[in-house]
Amino acid sequence: QKNDLLSGKRVLISAGGTRERIDPVRFIGNRSSGKMGIALAVAAASAGAEVTLVVGQISVELPVHPQIKIIKIESTNELLNTVMTEFTQTDILIMAAAVADFEPEMIADQKIKKAADNDEFVLKLKKTPDILKSVGAIKKHQLIIGFAAETQELNKNAQAKLVSKHADMIIANNVVTDGIGFESNDNQVTIFESQQDPKPLTKMSKMQLANQLVELIAKKLGD
Ligand code: PMT
Repeated sequence: QKNDLLSGKRVLISAGGTRERIDPVRFIGNRSSGKMGIALAVAAASAGAEVTLVVGQISVELPVHPQIKIIKIESTNELLNTVMTEFTQTDILIMAAAVADFEPEMIADQKIKKAADNDEFVLKLKKTPDILKSVGAIKKHQLIIGFAAETQELNKNAQAKLVSKHADMIIANNVVTDGIGFESNDNQVTIFESQQDPKPLTKMSKMQLANQLVELIAKKLGD
């Protein structure tokens, strides 16, 4: 859908899942195909924006578009560093990446071996940095948009994320319903903005949704 809704705007989008290393052969990670974030990057570029797409682990092809620059990352800390570096030259940040909330407290240098006398292995985790909160603290003119992946109490949790993550908009998706959320081609979301009633959208393809979100974001920018 070609238009000029975001012409001249610089949009930073994260997509895919982060991976946190346990040892040289293992990691813990988050589900995400990257489809939602990539659709947003294509929609924003088609609307005239200069897009930087920061991608973690994905299971689809990366977009090829003259207005989409791609930066690859692996862990939440790498994503944080990239977002913080790019943020000052950004007008709109959209965090569609599925970010790990915890990482191993220590990364083992060597492969962790199983031993005959050892039927259990305890992995100690620590919280990862919250990227949205970090950019919220240095935000100037930027519009900050987060997603909320919820398995229960969508409204309450999304509303809380709007406040705690200093976001201008939270796009909440239920990730337990089949056919939407992780990996699927479709999504069904509810939009949360402060001082406004939640806006539920119908189920549609991630590409259609991305185009609608670009329209909503452009309108918000103009307000
Ligand atoms: O990639 P797909 O298969 O198409 O699936 C799309 C999706 C379901 C992954 C996507 O629509 C989505 O919901 N992405 C956000 C997943 C997530 O991490 O949600 P959350 O509720 O845990 O986090 C809330 C927000 O904070 C998100 O914007 C997240 O990017 C951000 N976050 C989370 C943790 C952290 N340490 N720092 C963050 O900034």
